[in-house]
Amino acid sequence: MAALLDVCDLHAAYGPTRVLHGVNFSLEEGSITALLGANGAGKTTTLRALCGMVKTQGEVRYAGQRIDGKATEDIVRLGIAHVPDGRGTFVNLSTEENLRLGAYVRKDKSKLAEDFERIYGYFPRLKERRHQQAGTLSGGEQQMLAVSRALMLRPKLLLLDEPSFGLAPLIVKEIFEIMRGINKTEKVSILLVEQNAAMALDLADRAYLIETGNVVLSGTSSEIKQNEAVRRSYLGY
Ligand SMILES: Nc1ncnc2c1ncn2[C@@H]1O[C@H](COP(=O)(O)OP(=O)(O)OP(=O)(O)O)[C@@H](O)[C@H]1O
Ligand SMILES: [Mg+2]
Repeated sequence: MAALLDVCDLHAAYGPTRVLHGVNFSLEEGSITALLGANGAGKTTTLRALCGMVKTQGEVRYAGQRIDGKATEDIVRLGIAHVPDGRGTFVNLSTEENLRLGAYVRKDKSKLAEDFERIYGYFPRLKERRHQQAGTLSGGEQQMLAVSRALMLRPKLLLLDEPSFGLAPLIVKEIFEIMRGINKTEKVSILLVEQNAAMALDLADRAYLIETGNVVLSGTSSEIKQNEAVRRSYLGY
C-alpha cells in the first residue's frame, strides 16, 4: 500500500530548544501506526509538527503533497484531525456544541445530522449526555468527545495524542476497540501516540519508538513486542 504520510528528516524546536533531531517515519494508507516513547521523547511535538503548530525543518508529505510549512487550518482542511493531549475540549460548551465545532471547516454541512447519528452510534453515552456541559463529563466521556469531535471532520488521518491518559484500563479498551472499528469500516488511518505501549501495540499494525527526538526502532507491532529492550523498558516483562 502507498504511504499516506511520509516524514523525512523532521526537526522541530521551541525557540532555541531543539526537540526533534531528524525524525523519519511513514504511515501506510488504512493503517494504525503507533509512536511510542518515554516522557519528553518528542511524541507530542511530532504531532504538533505535522499540524504546523511548531517551527520545523524537513519534509512532511501527505497523500503525496508537501504539507510542512502550511498553516494548521489548511492542514485540517486536507483531512488531518488532531486530538491533542489534554483533549482540547471546550468545557463550557455542551457535548453537542463541541461536536458542531469539529465540523467547522466542513463544506458538506447538509450531512451533519447524519454524522451526529454516526458518532452517537459509536458512543451512545455521548448521545445521552448531548446537552451536558462538556467540563462535567467524566474523563472517559471527555476522551470519547475529543475523538468524536475529530471524527466530525470526516478525516482521512486521525492523530491521537495519548488517548489512554488518566483512564481506567476498561475504558481504554472500549475506546481502542471503537478506534479499531472506525479504522476498519471508515478506512480512517490513525497515528497513535502512546506511553501505554502494551495497549498501543495490540491496536497498531506498525510502531516506531522515539527516544530524545530520534526514531530508534521501527517495525511491525509483533516485531516491536519481541524486542528485548522494548520489553524491558516499555512493556515491563
Ligand atoms: N512549549 C515548549 N517550550 C519549550 N520546550 C518544550 C515545549 N513543549 C515541549 N517542550 C520540550 O520538548 C521535549 C519533548 O516534549 P513532548 O511534549 O513532545 O514529549 P512527549 O514525548 O509528548 O512526552 P509525554 O509522554 O510526557 O507527553 C521535552 O523536553 C519538553 O520539555
Ligand atoms: Mg506528550
